[in-house]
Amino acid sequence: MVSDELTKLKGEKMSLPDLESKNAQEVLEYAIKQHGNKVGLATSFGAEDVVLMDMMAKIDEGNVNIFTLDTGRLPYETYQVFEEFRKKYPALTINTLYPETKAVQEMVTGKGPDLFYNSIEARKECCGVRKIEPLKRALAQLDAWVTGLRREQSVTRTEVAKVENDEGFGLIKFNPLIDWSEKDVWDYIKENEVPYNALHDQNYPSIGCAPCTRAVKEGEDIRAGRWWWETPDQKECGLHVKN
Ligand code: ADX
Ligand code: SF4
Repeated sequence: MVSDELTKLKGEKMSLPDLESKNAQEVLEYAIKQHGNKVGLATSFGAEDVVLMDMMAKIDEGNVNIFTLDTGRLPYETYQVFEEFRKKYPALTINTLYPETKAVQEMVTGKGPDLFYNSIEARKECCGVRKIEPLKRALAQLDAWVTGLRREQSVTRTEVAKVENDEGFGLIKFNPLIDWSEKDVWDYIKENEVPYNALHDQNYPSIGCAPCTRAVKEGEDIRAGRWWWETPDQKECGLHVKN
């Protein structure tokens, strides 16, 4: 039984309902009923995110809150899905956030456009400027956010719940697809004819920025193509961290 009461205080621990037995649509409906426009879906237009975008559009296409972080280094195919969504769901607004110009200018002038290959610190600096700072700006307007995380994706995501306190950013985080398999995701996309990133058909199961993403080889892990020069326990950019 989902509680209607959510005690919320930004920056403090909130008491959360148990949504583990709820399906993805029910989790989204609950999030939207409780938080309205104060809950936003973060989309990178990956396979999981397009599923959630389709579900949210079906709940209330004209009113749901969806945002994307355009790092300035995204693959062209990601912009193509963005455009396909705008055509297929004309009432859907996709709020787009960009990094601070000055921070990007200083970083690239000082360390070059591809600093991320030089060290983990440099990679984290780039993710910090291009993703985390804009994410913080987006989340400052919200009480809760929704992501397409799945437990199967990596060793860093096995403990994630359907709803949790995002202590790092001080708000509630809903992960409606956390217990979905990759097959569940693709069955939904095909059955509902949801637009998806063309790179997925070229052995890119997980897609981030162009210079930090490559195709995986047969038998490789689904995140093997993300920051492939780093070890699996390091492959988080800071969007999804506890504390
Ligand atoms: S990442 O931290 O390694 O880049 P990943 O690509 O697995 O994340 O995506 C996990 C979830 O993070 C997505 O389902 C989405 O909710 C969110 N996310 C990742 N990248 C972005 C982005 N550029 N804009 C908005 N949300 C994003
Ligand atoms: Fe920079 Fe790569 Fe992180 Fe994108 S994924 S923000 S290019 S380090």
